Amino acid sequence: MAQMAVKVFGHRFRNPVIPAAGPNVGTGDQIARAARGGAGGLLAKTISVRAAEVPRPDMYRYSSGALLNTELWSELAPEDWFEREYAIASAAAREHGLPLIASLGYSADDLRALGPKVQAKGIDLIEFSIHYLDPRQLADTARALRESVSIPIIAKLSPHYGDLGEAARILDPYVDGFACINSFGPTLAIDLERAEPVLGSKFGYGWISGPPLKPLAVRSVFEVARVSDKPIIGVGGISRGEDLIEFFMAGASLVGVCTAALLKGQSVYGRIAQEASNWLDKHGYRDIREVQGLYLKKYGQGQRVVTQTEECPRVDAERCTGCTLCERVCFYDAITAPPKGVARVEADSCFQCGLCVSVCSFGVLAFQPRDQVTRLTIQ
Ligand SMILES: Cc1cc2nc3c(=O)[nH]c(=O)nc-3n(C[C@H](O)[C@H](O)[C@H](O)COP(=O)(O)O)c2cc1C
Repeated sequence: MAQMAVKVFGHRFRNPVIPAAGPNVGTGDQIARAARGGAGGLLAKTISVRAAEVPRPDMYRYSSGALLNTELWSELAPEDWFEREYAIASAAAREHGLPLIASLGYSADDLRALGPKVQAKGIDLIEFSIHYLDPRQLADTARALRESVSIPIIAKLSPHYGDLGEAARILDPYVDGFACINSFGPTLAIDLERAEPVLGSKFGYGWISGPPLKPLAVRSVFEVARVSDKPIIGVGGISRGEDLIEFFMAGASLVGVCTAALLKGQSVYGRIAQEASNWLDKHGYRDIREVQGLYLKKYGQGQRVVTQTEECPRVDAERCTGCTLCERVCFYDAITAPPKGVARVEADSCFQCGLCVSVCSFGVLAFQPRDQVTRLTIQ
């Protein structure tokens, strides 16, 4: 079985899957459940200098695995955390031998007030969120926390900033690592029957999370990894072992899970770690660290852009089921796929767009690996 334990920020995580901030870690008891659910390390919901007044309803299942939410930060007062919740979370962390991360927001003054109190509670690391900051406040805010505590600090980046590579460059001198990304928005969904908002915020706006966020999150991890060697917690749409592998290949050192835990329960962390371990076994890797940065190393400087190739997808005639889906999605009329027969690709008409390859759920259509394609016209 592939080795899944990792040492990050100077701490041992029994596997790289930790909770990301949300109601899944909204109390000490929930954090203890995440530990029992197999999380490799622990994280507590974001707190600020006062309790959040959260509009209700604040969560809506948008598609099978996605959520819209209008949560802010913890609805518990910071005193509740300092008097009770962190103690419960710390006890769970000790019992399972896991590092514990506190999450703080938002201004420089908030972080100066909260950081030393968190450190005094014996918490191992602090994540701070830039979600409500103006980009011009990034450096001062990070510096304020850096100067207030001696434990490692992690900047959690939000995708509405745009260029997260640039944000990482600004924050890098002050932080020990990054978490990418927070939920994205604002977005809007409407209850059609009642022409009403599905969420309780002023205009019904909410922030999207779960699988639709994943490609944006993977790209963000990659962007940040291109400008900083510091550890990155990849967050956004992770629900399966293969998602973990993808984030690691982009440059992540840990991954965080929120939406999948909310929709599937707290055992999701251990399941994702187990699935990733199975994937590694199947692909001949012995340690999760072997896949870390694989994509980053190969494509950190980009790839040769191919605007025309003479290769077109090949059909594995033995395995073609004759489902005809490839013909239906071919808008270049290059595929003939008789029902229950074998698909055929007409090379002269094929645009090499790739859609047929990606929709074939049987893996019957395949491009040649890029490095084996010999006849290329490069622009
Ligand atoms: C209901 C809900 C509440 C959240 N609360 C916080 C929070 O307090 N602090 C924070 O940094 N991120 C918060 N997030 C963002 C998540 O931690 C995570 O970054 C984002 O949802 C993407 O990961 P996911 O697709 O696994 O949910 C929240 C997300 C959801 C869905």
